[in-house]
Amino acid sequence: MKIDRVQTLYFSPTGTTKTVVTEMSREYFGSKAPCFDLTYPEYTLPQDLSTGDLVFVGVPVYAGRVPALAVERLEGLQGNGASMVVTVVYGNREYEDALLELRNMALEHGFRVVAGCAFIGEHSFSTGELPIAAGRPDEDDLKIARKFAQQIRDNVKGLAEKGRGHLDVPGDKPYKEGMMNLPFTVQVDEEKCTLCETCISTCPAGAISLSGQIIMSADLCILCCACIKGCPEEAVSLTAPPIMEKVVWLHENCKERKEPALFTL
Ligand SMILES: Cc1cc2nc3c(=O)[nH]c(=O)nc-3n(C[C@H](O)[C@H](O)[C@H](O)COP(=O)(O)O)c2cc1C
Repeated sequence: MKIDRVQTLYFSPTGTTKTVVTEMSREYFGSKAPCFDLTYPEYTLPQDLSTGDLVFVGVPVYAGRVPALAVERLEGLQGNGASMVVTVVYGNREYEDALLELRNMALEHGFRVVAGCAFIGEHSFSTGELPIAAGRPDEDDLKIARKFAQQIRDNVKGLAEKGRGHLDVPGDKPYKEGMMNLPFTVQVDEEKCTLCETCISTCPAGAISLSGQIIMSADLCILCCACIKGCPEEAVSLTAPPIMEKVVWLHENCKERKEPALFTL
């Protein structure tokens, strides 16, 4: 099968998913592969896809699922027989049904799924005191990503134009219950906050506004931690007790290094 165009598509509030998928698409096609960033509300989607296209798509894992906001933003994507490589990036706990969900979405949107993978990224809740998969993806992960992209390129060359191959990936359907809407959000330390508005521009969900002080909407917040990681003053934190308990649990129970899982036709 001949691929004329490669495109990259990701939802990546704290950047680990972006790192993994761009590493793969660049290895496959060089820096010519355009990127579509679905993280922010003003995103656009690739248009006029057809069988000569290959799209690398990546999302983080939230509660074992594809984040609801990513599902919503992928809604208008039309594959028209284009090929897709599906990637999920998780914080060294589990990816559960997320890869299966992303593969199924790709099929429903008219793509042929030629490969899939689950990589590990620093957990969004990781802090200096309570690290969880800190520094991932690291150089070893990215080496695996590049090798996998080469393997996909070799496989795709050998695939027939209209193959019926069906990529098997782990996961169960009905999927596990995803993220619940929790009644809390991040906290801003007003002593440290300089009202620079970086948090507003890095929030994927439009959950932050300025009205004399920074206002966080618990209804809109997806707890992605982009505002925490992006704040130049370290003025934003997630200290709600139920989340803190979870962070301690993750820090203590997800220490053992997991390795990327790779699936091809
Ligand atoms: C709300 C939320 C839920 C998460 N759920 C999971 C999970 O179920 N399993 C896991 O291993 N990591 C989980 N993570 C961690 C992210 O999947 C991980 O940090 C990922 O690398 C973030 O991707 P990004 O850097 O592209 O935003 C969760 C993170 C957040 C913010």
